Amino acid sequence: MTPIKASLLTVLFILATAAIGGVVLIRRGFRATSEPSGLERLVARSVRNLAIPRTAQRGTNPLKASAENLQAGRELFLTQCANCHGVDGGSKTPMGRNLYPRVPDLHSPETQGLSDGAIYYIIANGVQLTGMPAWGSPHQPPEKIWQLVLFVRSLRSLSPTEQTEQSALSSARRLPFGWLRHSHQAGCRMERGM
Ligand code: HEC
Repeated sequence: MTPIKASLLTVLFILATAAIGGVVLIRRGFRATSEPSGLERLVARSVRNLAIPRTAQRGTNPLKASAENLQAGRELFLTQCANCHGVDGGSKTPMGRNLYPRVPDLHSPETQGLSDGAIYYIIANGVQLTGMPAWGSPHQPPEKIWQLVLFVRSLRSLSPTEQTEQSALSSARRLPFGWLRHSHQAGCRMERGM
């Protein structure tokens, strides 16, 4: 096959795939209730991971996994993330189940397989075209984001006692409309529901 023929066939293949994809989308409708397909999840995730700069991927946590840092991360998580990711990070919340793409379970091997630097990058910058907001400046200084990274890492092995502790802490801090009081960040806009 000549190079021109091969290029023409490739272009035709791409156009046909785009057309079929378009028809499927129109027939299915742009609804967040549609279940993302496995292929779509794989492609979106791979593209997102590829878009995280190498230097950011290699970032290491400057904080120690001390009880204080972990507790600070847990409190931030409960006040700012639990709405979508759930009190235990399992993301089985009304928001988590109904966003498109779905909010991932932070215990999963996919999340835990991300480097600390990649988790930091995702929390600080958010993820375009998804419900994941950016929490970096002006919301959080880097130290707080690293505390969140420590907490996300700790979900790898949340003991039953920690889970109970987490639920107790969460119900003690719950405010109307599901938002949770945030003792450290009086200025955080999300917290005020803005
Ligand atoms: C409004 C809902 C929402 C809130 C609030 C939220 N997230 Fe997310 N989060 C998402 C969604 C949706 C994704 C999936 C993004 C994607 O598909 O790439 C996500 C992805 C992530 C990931 C990547 C996990 C993975 O395996 O891809 C991490 C880590 C994360 N969030 C941490 C946090 C932290 C920490 C907070 C609080 C500071 C937070 N999120 C607040 C919706 C939310």
